[in-house]
Parts: sequence; structure tokens; C-alpha cells
Amino acid sequence: MKYERASAAAYDQAGPGGAATTRERPAGGPLTLLSSDPERDRRSDTRVAVIGLGQVGLPTALLLCNAGFSVLGVDIDAEKVERIGQGQMPVLEEGLLRIAGEPSVSSNLRTATIPSSADIFVVAVGTPIESQTKAPDLSILWNALDSLTPHLHAGNLVIVESTVPPGTCRRQIMPRISSQRPDLKFGDSLFLAHCPERVWPSNTIDEMVNNPRVIGATCSESGRLAKQFYAQFVKGELRVTDDLTAELCKLVENSFRDVNIAFANEIASVAEELGVDSDELIELANMHPRVNILRPGIGVGGHCIPVDPWFIVDACSQPCWMIEAARKVNDSKPQQVAEKVASQLRQVDGNRIAVVGLAYKPNVADMRGSPAIRVVQLLREMGYEVTAKEPLVPGHGYTSLEHLARGADCLLVLVPHDCVVQELNTRRADILRGMRHAMILEF
Ligand SMILES: NC(=O)c1ccc[n+]([C@@H]2O[C@H](COP(=O)([O-])OP(=O)(O)OC[C@H]3O[C@@H](n4cnc5c(N)ncnc54)[C@H](O)[C@@H]3O)[C@@H](O)[C@H]2O)c1
Repeated sequence: MKYERASAAAYDQAGPGGAATTRERPAGGPLTLLSSDPERDRRSDTRVAVIGLGQVGLPTALLLCNAGFSVLGVDIDAEKVERIGQGQMPVLEEGLLRIAGEPSVSSNLRTATIPSSADIFVVAVGTPIESQTKAPDLSILWNALDSLTPHLHAGNLVIVESTVPPGTCRRQIMPRISSQRPDLKFGDSLFLAHCPERVWPSNTIDEMVNNPRVIGATCSESGRLAKQFYAQFVKGELRVTDDLTAELCKLVENSFRDVNIAFANEIASVAEELGVDSDELIELANMHPRVNILRPGIGVGGHCIPVDPWFIVDACSQPCWMIEAARKVNDSKPQQVAEKVASQLRQVDGNRIAVVGLAYKPNVADMRGSPAIRVVQLLREMGYEVTAKEPLVPGHGYTSLEHLARGADCLLVLVPHDCVVQELNTRRADILRGMRHAMILEF
């Protein structure tokens, strides 16, 4: 066994490797970062620094402003910082734009490219994998933590929202901060918690407020403080556990999604080879009261589901057969899709392809790690002339399916956004009329 299992309470007694211990809070009771007095709202006295203003950090910062905290939003991207400071939001989600327009945001949000002192630090920077080895690349996280460490003072709470490999808090973050700040002691004058995110892009604000959250505490006081903090803007259940369990829990959630999507994708391939309609097959199988096969697709994208399972694989000395197999199945889908398109085009001797949809999943304006982009890349490598547009990303030059497909040998629908499906349903005849070959392939 690589990591010892410790309950939050047991961990509180021992500290990380026994290095730090929690002592009773001095006379005066528990440390207070927030007022529990409903008559006196002291949240604006509490300064929160949110490090990383991306898909997770920016909406978190806005929600904190809305809850009355004094927020410093920090990002190394100076242009982004300037735009957010001027009220221009880089993420165009309805809920986020609504909250960004609240007077509480203009009065409570400041932005900067470097941190300064605060009561609570929330870290939400990217934690990718190395493309070749699939090993975690935590360099962005280390830079972010190193930038805030000089500004720490006694009583601070540091919350890591970034998804991290199991053991990162106790084996890496705590020793790293302790070595730079020997004047502060975890569990005594400094508190660390891991609170991973579960948001669904396109509905981020609603999910941040209403989803249940797991709080990974490195000592009982950090759990208490973090729970008190999230209770100010989260309505979902807040469940405190130890840091290691919370780290693994996040990874398990996304591995669960990956494995289930892989199963659906494999079933679709099997059905196709055997000449069975996969949609009908899955619909029929799902009539079984204890079967729920997901919808197959062209692969898995974004920067969570294709990444997080590798953190588990990397952390374990034993083979993770199923997790690795799921990754392979899902990563092989774009190649299968490209080959299928090529085989259809060979039948009409066509070369010109119009692709609609480059996001990593339907109804999301996010193209990071998208399997659709991989399909386009593969088709181009095969020598096809491909024009590809993403309707949900402003400035991508999408006007209409009719315009996109004009003169093409094939219209390839890689991401069935609601707006695309609706356009197909209402304009199909006109779209087909303008094409060189009347072929629409929908995935
Ligand atoms: N996006 C999601 O839906 C989602 C969901 C759950 C968990 N997560 C996890 O949350 C974390 C953040 O994800 P994200 O999607 O918000 O990433 P992102 O790439 O959208 O944003 C990260 C931001 O951090 C900034 N940054 C990088 N280094 C910095 C530094 N040293 N100081 C300050 N800012 C810095 C970047 O410029 C960027 O704006 C990741 O670990 C991710 O796996 C994301």
C-alpha cells in the first residue's frame, strides 16, 4: 500500500507523517475567519485571494464577491486580468455574465497579476499531464503556491481547488510551504484544505452553488474553517473528510465517467461491426431496470476526464487495468471516426469536408482537448480538404450550416449542439441542395 489511510480525526492527531500537530486553540476559542453573528456581516472584512481566474477560479471569485467577501483575483495572464478588471468576462456563460453584472462584483473585486496578503487563499490553476508520459505535471501549481507563500501569515487558510494526484496535500504541498515558511506551522497557525470542483461548464454558477462538495481537511481546524467558508456561498451539502480521500474522490468521479463512456463507445463499435444499430441496441438494453449505458460519442475531451484517470494510474504501483483500458478506448475513437468518414467519402470520390462542432462536448463553448479537433487533424493528415467551424465560440466565423456545407462532399456533424440539431432539422433540404454530394454524417 502506497499511502496510509487516515480519517480526518486520526490525521489531525498525527499530522503529515507526524510532522505537524494540532494543539488546542488558545483561550478565546476557535480561530474565526468569518463572523457567526448574523446581525453583523463581517464577510467584507475577510479578504480572499483567488489564484487562477480560469473556468473554476473566475466564477468562484464572482460568487465570493456576491457573498460579500473582499476578493483579489490573481492571474499571471496580464491581459485577462486587465479585461476582468474592466468587467469584460472571458467566459461567456449566461449565469456567469449575470453575476458579473452585480454591483457587489464591481465593489468587491480587485484583480492583480501577483498575490498579496489575504485571510483565505483559493488556488484554482491548471494541473495537466505530460503529453507523452501521462505523468502529472504540477509545475503550474508549484508556481502558484510559491507566489502566495511569501504573503502567508498566521491564521491563514489555504484551499486547493485544483485537481491533484493522491497525497499531494500532505506529501508535497505541506512540506513545500513549510520549507519556505518555517515560522508557520500547519494545524496550528496555518490551515490547508483540498476542495475539488465538480462543475459542468456552461452551467458553472448553478453547479458551484448547488452541488454537494467534498472538503479534504488536513486537520480538524482546517475542515471546520473550510466548511464555514463554503457555507457562505454553497447551498449543496458540505462533507468533510481527510485530504487524501478528497483527492482520490475527485479522480474516482472522473474515472467513473471515463470508464462508462468507454463502455458505451466499445458497445457502439461492436454493434457497428455486427451490423446492429447501436442507438436502438442501447435503448433496448437500458429498458433493463439496472442497466444505464451512456450515449456513445467521438471520444472524450476537456481537461478533466482525459487527464484525471492518469493521476490514479501514476499513483499506484499495481496496474489499473480498467482505468487504463478506458483511456485507450476513448483515445482511439477519433481515429475510428476519421476512418469511417474516409470510407464513406471513397464511395463518392469526395475530398471536401465541412465540419461543424469543435467543442469537447455538446452545448459547451470549450475546445480544450477536444476529440473533434483530433478528428479534423486526422482527416487533414489523410489529405482531405477540411473546413471546420465551432458555432458556440464567438469569432470562429460560423454563420450557418447551409453556408458551411456549400460545395462540400460531406457535412460532418462532430458535436451535436442543440442549435446544430435544430438547424439540421429545419434546414436539411436546403443544406443538401447546396452540396457537391448530398452526404451528412452525424456523430
Ligand atoms: N474547468 C472545469 O470544468 C473543471 C472542473 C473541475 C475541476 N477542474 C480543475 O480545476 C483546476 C483549474 O481548472 P480551470 O479549468 O479553471 O483551468 P484554466 O486553465 O481555465 O484556468 C487556470 C488559470 O490559472 C492561471 N494561472 C496559471 N498559473 C498561474 C499562477 N502562477 N498564478 C496565477 N494564475 C495562474 C492561468 O492563466 C489560467 O487563467 C484544474 O486542476 C482542473 O483540473 C476544472
